[in-house]
Amino acid sequence: QILILDFGSQYTQLIARRVRELNVYCEIHPYNNVPEITPDIKGIILSGSPCSVRDEGSPDLDLDALRGKLPILGVCYGSQLLAQKYGGEVLPSEIREYGRANLDHIDLHYDLLKEMTHGSQVWMSHGDTIKTLPVGFDVIASTTSVKVAAFKIQNEETYGIQFHPEVTHSLEGKNLLRNFVVGICGCAQDWTSDMFIDNTVAELKAKIGSDKVVMGLSGGVDSSVAATLIHRAIGENLTCVFVDNGLLRKNEYEEVLESYKTLGLNVIGVDAKQRFYVALAGISDPETKRKAIGRVFIEVFDDEAHKIDGVKWLGQGTIYPDVIESVSVKGPSATIKSHHNVGGLPDFMKLSVVEPLNTLFKDEVREVGRALEIPETIIGRHPFPGPGLAIRILGDITEEKVKTLQEVDAIFIQGLKNHGLYDQVWQAGAILLPIQSVGVMGDERTYERVVALRAVGSVDGMTADWIHLPYEFLGKMSNEIINRVKGVNRVVYDISSKPPATIEWE
Ligand code: XMP
Repeated sequence: QILILDFGSQYTQLIARRVRELNVYCEIHPYNNVPEITPDIKGIILSGSPCSVRDEGSPDLDLDALRGKLPILGVCYGSQLLAQKYGGEVLPSEIREYGRANLDHIDLHYDLLKEMTHGSQVWMSHGDTIKTLPVGFDVIASTTSVKVAAFKIQNEETYGIQFHPEVTHSLEGKNLLRNFVVGICGCAQDWTSDMFIDNTVAELKAKIGSDKVVMGLSGGVDSSVAATLIHRAIGENLTCVFVDNGLLRKNEYEEVLESYKTLGLNVIGVDAKQRFYVALAGISDPETKRKAIGRVFIEVFDDEAHKIDGVKWLGQGTIYPDVIESVSVKGPSATIKSHHNVGGLPDFMKLSVVEPLNTLFKDEVREVGRALEIPETIIGRHPFPGPGLAIRILGDITEEKVKTLQEVDAIFIQGLKNHGLYDQVWQAGAILLPIQSVGVMGDERTYERVVALRAVGSVDGMTADWIHLPYEFLGKMSNEIINRVKGVNRVVYDISSKPPATIEWE
């Protein structure tokens, strides 16, 4: 595997993605918590950073402990650190170098640059530049404005590059990473879904043995894939719990329960609608709603778990980005929404946690899901928030409002599917607004609800943009919703991006 040491760059996860795309396993660790260098680590990549090596107290690393022992590739900050530490000079760039550049001079004899082309386009994003290199460091590529675009240290496989090979605008970036990871480090390209499944199932068998596991399912891709893997390993000793919190999409509870049964999972469906409605009665504040839902979910789940004699483990669908975030070098960011409050581990349950997907990115989870033959209706499903429709009903929640929103949402989602738009959208849904507006139906004046439709494109939910759905489609949806859903006389479309808006309205 490849070890990626993170100095806090926004691109670190992208480096990992690219390495994984080469079918090579890699892990990200913070620069200040370097794991033991075991023989299965074949090379190290030092990431970029928002900091400058010139700043006092900027992230630092004992490079002597690593240099010469195994191949190293410093990217941006990583390369500047290598240069500065051994006597080179790093200075602020006269102009901030940001965007496309071309490697006008490139020495293709070096293994790192093999099969790349003269003038290769790369992506720069840095405020500092390496003015002079230490003795024993050779320049191996330059652009017109950046002399030291890439260097190699003589007699060892240590390289530095000023540009970002992980960004797709570096057109031959993947080639360079392959040269490093496969050519120089000698990693085997055997990290595939099938291998992941075989290894994980074997590990789960060894870890869990004949113990019992309980797991909450949400209908989403992560928990479904995690449950299927655990089921492969331990069969009937896995009990899944799928809770109807009364805040799911129309018919979702029945449909999802059915697909889980088809997958052979041992699922207990719990209709807890009324418990949630009672707990939510009169609550309008979004965070209070989330907390109430989280609390009731844990109570319901705990009741079910206690019915399983001798259960020892709690299965969870945690994925890699959640894990990396928690060791990130960036300071803790302010809580905007307490997202992960649903389905967390209640302390009093005293179960050990098993998280078979905690090394995978979302798209890898999908691939593993496909290899496990989980139906596309689950794999390709849009993300759906744990608190469900509760955070799409602005203001307090009643059963009647949920029913209205379920009808609107069902028309919209089915419409997206019928018009071939569903897979072009990352997430979509409808929001019930806490206002009424005047309308006219026949000869009558109406005073009814307004709903908003939202459809966004995104990669990870961190940023998002509204989708330019065709006007004809929007018009059709508006007509259908107003004609078919009683109590709604107006439909609006949300054209805000995130930031500054968020995907959900609460
Ligand atoms: P926002 O609204 O913050 O949402 O742009 C980003 C992504 O997170 C989902 N989301 C939640 N998921 N519990 C969840 O499990 C929550 O409380 C929650 N709030 C937002 C949202 O649907 C989107 O995919």
